[in-house]
Amino acid sequence: MLHQDIERILFSEEELKARVAELGAQIDRDYANQTPLLISVLRGSFIFMADLVRSITRPCTVDFMAVSSYGSGTTSSGQVKIVKDLSEQIEGRDIIVVEDILDSGNTLSYLFQLLQARHPASIRLCTLLDKPERRTKPVAAQYVGFTIPDAFVVGYGLDYDEKYRNLPCIGILKPCVYGGE
Ligand code: PRP
Repeated sequence: MLHQDIERILFSEEELKARVAELGAQIDRDYANQTPLLISVLRGSFIFMADLVRSITRPCTVDFMAVSSYGSGTTSSGQVKIVKDLSEQIEGRDIIVVEDILDSGNTLSYLFQLLQARHPASIRLCTLLDKPERRTKPVAAQYVGFTIPDAFVVGYGLDYDEKYRNLPCIGILKPCVYGGE
């Protein structure tokens, strides 16, 4: 059972649902006159993306990108690799990049440079979780679900060694699971 490896639940299914609904309502208000293109950065954001777009009531379109930066450990390697690029052209579009977590900022600062070079009309970041303590690159998100401390969190799309993504809540992983204290 996945729950046995969780030390403490940070956000329950209900809390996630309520916060995602608020973010959707905020995006609805901010993009009243535009049709934003939401770009989900796989794989971690797939569940958040699916819930977020269903809480947006105005027209929007979606696309997906896959990047890899962590390998199977718990710390960033600093290397960002595009595993899957977008299917759509983004020139002139209003982009919202959808992430599960903003940590060092390494992935997003790389991604933003890459996307800016394709000349979108605007680009914003919507991250479910933000760990500002860990930031080494200056990346700011316009939409943040929750600001969290520097703990190893899994669930609702977030993994450890590719597992726990299917937990419906977000919890702190027991350190013994990843060889910590
Ligand atoms: C996570 C997350 C971000 C990145 C954030 O992805 O989805 O893309 O790490 O970390 P950073 O701010 O330190 O760059 P991960 O590489 O774990 O891949 P995944 O989405 O496939 O789980």
